[in-house]
Amino acid sequence: MASLYDGKMAAIYDAMYQTFVNYDEEYVFYNNLIQENKASTILEIGSGTGNLAKRFQENNQNYQGLDYSESMIAIAKERNKNCSFIQGDMREFKLENPVHAILITGRSTSYLITNDDINRTFASLFTNLTDDGIIIFDFIDANRFIPFTKENPLIIHEAKYENENYTRESHWDTNNSLENFMLEWTAKYYKVVNGEKEIIENDFSTVRVFTLNEMELFLYLNNFEIIKTIDRKTYAYDTYVIVARKKITS
Ligand SMILES: C[S@@+](CC[C@H](N)C(=O)[O-])C[C@H]1O[C@@H](n2cnc3c(N)ncnc32)[C@H](O)[C@@H]1O
Repeated sequence: MASLYDGKMAAIYDAMYQTFVNYDEEYVFYNNLIQENKASTILEIGSGTGNLAKRFQENNQNYQGLDYSESMIAIAKERNKNCSFIQGDMREFKLENPVHAILITGRSTSYLITNDDINRTFASLFTNLTDDGIIIFDFIDANRFIPFTKENPLIIHEAKYENENYTRESHWDTNNSLENFMLEWTAKYYKVVNGEKEIIENDFSTVRVFTLNEMELFLYLNNFEIIKTIDRKTYAYDTYVIVARKKITS
């Protein structure tokens, strides 16, 4: 797991992503898909620092969040005092009651690096959904992302939040010895003070990107039927968003 989501880095994450991501737009995008499918109870996995939670709560929706990181949940709880957040792992969790929609947002699927991680996650989603339940998740498109990282060895993101300037320098290594289109992501986080960069943290994580075909096959093998596939550009990466429903065999 990336140290990006632990301790003081969770607060830096929150500060930076407020600039990268338009969470109002993000909420409208996901909520339209939820409404289209008439889903009234919602679980968001990878709920992070609770930016989408805030919008769901403001609209009085039946929402709960789930995240692996205690530090991210602590910020999410501070932001959303009346909201329920569960500390858990998407690969194995059990809700008290099944829900109509499970979202995995913000490219959190990148942390499912082995086939076993993915199969376990889809199996958990299956058991925590109502029979008419749907899943909605995004993933980084390997076919576009891998050439992008080859052509751009250093990717810089700048962010301004509460009058502080931040810079992130990312390097993605497509080490051919790694399985499954995994990448080693090294990121250096800086605060910029009077034009000078001050290092805040070095972060290292292994992440995985997917082709659309392999994701379709994972869904098929785990008894999900695709309802919709959306080609979506996010703040930095080209992603696909998939909406799928449980296939109930009698
Ligand atoms: C890139 S952040 C996205 C956060 C939020 N959705 C957003 O868009 O700001 C990825 C999140 O996934 C969480 N995560 C990673 N692996 C997880 C797992 N196995 N189970 C649950 N959450 C996980 C991390 O703790 C982190 O909060």
